[in-house]
Amino acid sequence: MPKLFVGNWKMYVKDDEAAVLAQGYAEASAGATCDAAVAPSFTALERVAEALKGSRVALAAQDVFWMEKGAYTGEISAPILADLGVRFVIAGHSERRALFDETDEAVAKKTVAVLRAGMIPIVCVGETAEEKAGGQREEVIRRQLEAVFDLAAPAPDAPMIVAYEPRWAIGTGAACAPEEAVVVHRLIRELAADHQGMRVLYGGSVDSTNVASYVSQPEIDGVLVGGASVKIEEVRAMLAAISAF
Ligand code: PGA
Repeated sequence: MPKLFVGNWKMYVKDDEAAVLAQGYAEASAGATCDAAVAPSFTALERVAEALKGSRVALAAQDVFWMEKGAYTGEISAPILADLGVRFVIAGHSERRALFDETDEAVAKKTVAVLRAGMIPIVCVGETAEEKAGGQREEVIRRQLEAVFDLAAPAPDAPMIVAYEPRWAIGTGAACAPEEAVVVHRLIRELAADHQGMRVLYGGSVDSTNVASYVSQPEIDGVLVGGASVKIEEVRAMLAAISAF
């Protein structure tokens, strides 16, 4: 399976800039052989979809609410996203867990909703610096993943993706060493033994200078990139580097 690049634009990009950036992605991906997707703000999904039409870059969303329909002011459901052509949905990003008190149970419900709507969840897991220092990394990853597998009970061939994103590596420039990430990726695979086709991505301060060190590892199926994913020169370089593997 080709390696996968997912750009998480977070709240960095206004809608008019998003259309231009997406156009840049479409051009940059023309010579690439890896898979790619971008997650713009909800408001930009439609125009980004338009700009990506005919390219190998798929549309992703940064979040979702688990209910299908109803009185949930401000929320966006999985069917709404699916109708817009969204293929991947990030669930449980650490910024949502940390800033919006998203629980393991909420992440699991979101995963269920995404699968039910025929899209592919990208479930983010990862420990904080304190948890790492306290030797709790394995326990945290296990708890976060088990919550999802217990509730979502995805079929073994369900198209799921897990992203290992240590919180201390996100937006800090202090990326996790590839060898260290590989150890966690092996643990994730062990915990998801029934899901051998599941892709496991690494995320946290990935850019054009270090992306090859991750995707060259057989255990790492791709990357989830934040800050560097809104700089088109970085994107071009990352897509080219990933395509070599
Ligand atoms: P970063 O973010 O690449 O800016 O560290 C990664 C992420 O949050 O997915």
